[in-house]
Order: sequence, then structure tokens, then C-alpha cells
Amino acid sequence: MRIVCGVKTYSTPAAMQRAAKLWKQEGRRIGFVPTMGYLHDGHMSLVRDARKRVGPNGIVVVSIYVNPTQFAPTEDLSRYPRDLKRDRALCRAEGVDALFLPSDAVMYPGRDAGAYSTYVVEERLTRRMEGASRPAHFRGVTTVVAKLFNCVLPDVSVFGAKDWQQAAVIRRMTTDLNFPIQIVVAPTGRAEDGLALSSRNAYLNPEEREQATVLIRSIEAARTAVRRGPVGVADLTKAIRRLIATAPAAKLDYVEFFHGESLEPVDEVRKGTHMALAVFLGKTRLIDNGRL
Ligand code: PAF
Repeated sequence: MRIVCGVKTYSTPAAMQRAAKLWKQEGRRIGFVPTMGYLHDGHMSLVRDARKRVGPNGIVVVSIYVNPTQFAPTEDLSRYPRDLKRDRALCRAEGVDALFLPSDAVMYPGRDAGAYSTYVVEERLTRRMEGASRPAHFRGVTTVVAKLFNCVLPDVSVFGAKDWQQAAVIRRMTTDLNFPIQIVVAPTGRAEDGLALSSRNAYLNPEEREQATVLIRSIEAARTAVRRGPVGVADLTKAIRRLIATAPAAKLDYVEFFHGESLEPVDEVRKGTHMALAVFLGKTRLIDNGRL
């Protein structure tokens, strides 16, 4: 363990587990916020939620790890934004007790040589939406989150609602694999104009940033539509496509309407149905979702 910028920092699973076991012996609850870094206020609100749940005597751990297995070879792993110094300062200011900063070598020993060979796969909730658009993505997410859980040994772990499908998949995995961990899904942090906070927003040029509000505007338009009564999926999808076409930098990847808990697609969209969409703004792919 090192203390960097006033925050205890662990960089190997063994060191992290040793610390977590000691905290448990002391009767302290562990709240965990897994992240890929480049932290923003959305992450900080997850940290505040974790603190609330473990109390002043509890321990809040944030992991910062850009997990290579959840990126396809064509995706943005190498250019994913990173600023560890700033992340550390933010964590310190927010009263985070410990950072877990593992390397690829300790998370996936021997992976480059083909030795690493164990993955966690959720087979039902991952079929559509992000799972369909990014086929290897969730295998990477469930694998790394399971590994992080085994390192940090949390009592409670907080995830953001922006990644709604991810949260559902992790909740399922936690139940199916008997992790004794409470999974909390905290509200999406938003900029003043409604854009969901995301580390990937840093990629947007000024025009793309302005047009990126088309995601939340699509959700709002769907909310307005269902207020008048149930709407067919095809009609609403057409309306959303038309709205997205008004933003020249935007290209719809998918829009789906589904039951918020089961993620099962619906035939008809009504109040309470969940909507999720993924939109490219130039080369940047953003996601958002909301209950209608
Ligand atoms: O949501 C994220 O930032 C990542 O998918 C997670 C949960 C930290 C796993 O790498």
C-alpha cells in the first residue's frame, strides 16, 4: 500500500484483499465504486452514495482501471481519456478512503501470451442493445467486475443508471454467482442541458457537444408521446429516427423500448416503459436511457 495525494492506494489484488480483510475484521463496511477513471461529477455522486451507505466509519474504495477486455479491437481503448493526477485529487476531495489501481499484468496475468483463460459470461440480458452492438463488451465487464469484487470484497457497490443494461447484468451476475454484495444503481448525473455525464464526452468537438443533447431530447420526446397514450414501437422508433436526423453529426446506432427490470422488449410503449439508445456523434458513441 502507498499513500499518494493523501489517499491509500493499492495496486495488486493481494494487497487490496489484505486491506479489505482487515477493514472487515474491524467491523467496517466497504462501499465500492468501480470506474475506468477520468472521473466527473457523475462518478462523484456514486462515491457520495457509497459513503451514505457505509457511514462515516465505513470505507469507500474507488477502482480506476481501463479494462481492455470490454473494448473491441476497433474501439477506443488506446485513446480512452486518462488523468490519474486529477482523479486522485477528486477522490481525496470527496473523502475516498482507498484507490485500487491495478495494472493489466495483475488483472489478466499472461493474457498477451494466451495463458489467461477464465471469463464470466451472462447469457440472457446481454443479447440486445449494448450486447448486440458490442459483442464482446459484456463478457469483459462481467469478468472484470467479478474480479474487482474478489479484490475489494465490498458490502455494497454503486453503479450509474446511465449504463442501465450494465447495471442489470451486474445485478444478475451478483445473484447468480452468490456474491454477498448489495448492488445499488444511482441516478445518471447530467450537465445543465441534460447530456448524461460520461468520460467519453471529452471526445466531442463543440458542434458535436451541442448536438449531443439529441439523446436526452429523444427520451423527452418519447415521454411526451406516451403521455397521450400507448404508442407502437415502430411508430415511436420512426419519430426518434426523424428527431435524430435533425442533428447532422448524429447517427443512431439503436433505440429500444423494454421492461426496465427484465429488459424484455415491449410490443407497445407506454408510461413506465424503459427506453435506451446509442448514438454516434462523429466517431464518439454515447448512450442514454430513461423511464418514460
Ligand atoms: O462502467 C464502467 O465504467 C465500467 O464498465 C466498469 C463497471 C468500471 C467495468 O470496467
